[in-house]
Amino acid sequence: MLLQLLEMEEILLDQTKLPKHVAVIMDGNGRWAKNQGLMRVRGHEKGTKAVSQTVKTCAKLGIKYLTLYAFSTENWKRPKLEVDTLMRILVSSLRKELPTLRENGIRLKAVGSLHQLPDKAQKELAEVVELTKDNDKMNLVLALSYGSREELTNAVKLIAKDVVRGDLEVEQIEESTIENYLFTKDMPDVDLLIRTSGEHRISNFLLWQIAYAELYFTNTLWPDFRKKDLMMALKNYQDRERRFGKTSEQL
Ligand code: IPE
Ligand code: IPE
Ligand code: MG
Repeated sequence: MLLQLLEMEEILLDQTKLPKHVAVIMDGNGRWAKNQGLMRVRGHEKGTKAVSQTVKTCAKLGIKYLTLYAFSTENWKRPKLEVDTLMRILVSSLRKELPTLRENGIRLKAVGSLHQLPDKAQKELAEVVELTKDNDKMNLVLALSYGSREELTNAVKLIAKDVVRGDLEVEQIEESTIENYLFTKDMPDVDLLIRTSGEHRISNFLLWQIAYAELYFTNTLWPDFRKKDLMMALKNYQDRERRFGKTSEQL
């Protein structure tokens, strides 16, 4: 097959081997701010630049799904001032990024317990989702008030209800049935999961969906994450062999 190469930041990628779905745990905003002698929230503000650049680069490269972990169910336990600021940043970023989403053909979607978000954030989200629903170049998925265990618990409840109602037979339940009850219904599995800031954990993110994802960890703190860091992660992904249980020889 003809090798179609993409070059950016002096890193060459094979366009035919791009991950379909990239997910990112954007971590390290607080430590970035602390290192600069600033308040934690300044790190979150700075992190929006990295979000914007990552979204644009992924769209340019032709990645179909980008899921960003922006706020976890556990993050509600943070000090109120920090939570309030994060919600404010969410609203202002959605407003600011709408033109970019439109120019680049990006469709916005959100996953998580969205009803927990402040009304203003829910309203802004719903608006941007509606205004971008016909875009088809890339899907940008924001995980907000998202927790994978909560998502799975919720799926079990919905399945149980359908069984009790007689709409579903227990024997009919397959892996694909469970997928249909997740927030990520109709989305492909994650191919590449990136976590910044040197932490090596999943923190309740997409547990079902990352079953066979390639994991990539970098020490870079999220506000410092640039195009080059993304290209390095993608290059590293392309240099791996995904065997899905088979032997090398079978591939
Ligand atoms: C990630 O950065 C952003 C959110 C969780 C909202 P952190 O705020 O967790 O930054 P650190 O981990 O404290 O450095
Ligand atoms: C995970 O980061 C959540 C997001 C990036 C939104 P945290 O910083 O909250 O994760 P833990 O608590 O250190 O595992
Ligand atoms: Mg953190």
